[in-house]
Amino acid sequence: PTVAVLAGGLSHEREISLRSGRRVTQALRDLGHEVIESDVDSGLIETLTGLDDVVAFPLLHGESGEDGALREVLSMLDIPFVGTLPRSCRLAFDKAVSTTLVRRAGIRTPEQVALPHDLFRELGAKHIVRSLGEKLGFPLMVKPARCGSALGCTRVDAPEDLPAAMVAAYGYGPLAVVEEGVSGVEVTVTVIDTGNGPEAQPVVKIEPASGVYDYEARYTAGATRFTVPADLSDEITAQCADMAVRVHELLGLRDLSRTDIIIDEEGPVFIETNVAPGMTETSLVPLALDAGPDGFAKVCSQLVSVAAA
Ligand code: DAL
Ligand code: MG
Repeated sequence: PTVAVLAGGLSHEREISLRSGRRVTQALRDLGHEVIESDVDSGLIETLTGLDDVVAFPLLHGESGEDGALREVLSMLDIPFVGTLPRSCRLAFDKAVSTTLVRRAGIRTPEQVALPHDLFRELGAKHIVRSLGEKLGFPLMVKPARCGSALGCTRVDAPEDLPAAMVAAYGYGPLAVVEEGVSGVEVTVTVIDTGNGPEAQPVVKIEPASGVYDYEARYTAGATRFTVPADLSDEITAQCADMAVRVHELLGLRDLSRTDIIIDEEGPVFIETNVAPGMTETSLVPLALDAGPDGFAKVCSQLVSVAAA
């Protein structure tokens, strides 16, 4: 089949998505696949329906991509695609929903409060600062519930900084989550299923030079040090791998996912999972796969074969 790599779109992560698209396109072409790269815009349906035998590789990050909207369209057009089905994307992408489900399954997560913008305005900043401070303590992490690449995320150490952090999160959508801050070793685990069940890939340890794994640390070459496989004990490595696979299964994810984890003194804590993880030159999934037996390109190719079957 022709592989249609779908990237771009109009979310805040458009530029990243285009970079992910280029990398996957190159990897698949290197292995002899016929690939077209398409932006996700009003011409998309015509492009896709004009191809006879096509498999889509959706690489839209953020809204419309990871919330399942694009995949809903692909399903309606009966176009097979790599990755998680729309309804599970909806669960996984929303940090309020996914954290609740993961926590209910007995996996450690930060304590979290989800707060819609309307309610924030109604209750007022003073009340919010007091009640969240009492419930969660400081430091806190404030995030937009539906976004990626750390956009709109702020660590808050002092009560007086909380309102501004919340306003920043609402810049990316009407729902924010406020979480108890977790400090420790940041790692991520890619899960791949090419037909033999979900398998955890080598754990990647993440050490941003600035101390904060923000947008710049994610997408600037050399701004973050990665260690893969992470230099962790066998026990902690196994716990992280197990957590990522459990989350993949629990949320009904398909083909590939990446679960971000912080390891504190008591062990791994689930932070979030991604259904369309970044595939750029500085992203984590290609790094993890290139440390595995098959390598990034071959795994992309295998995922296409599974989707086409
Ligand atoms: N949201 C970005 C693309 C990532 O998680 O890699
Ligand atoms: Mg993310």
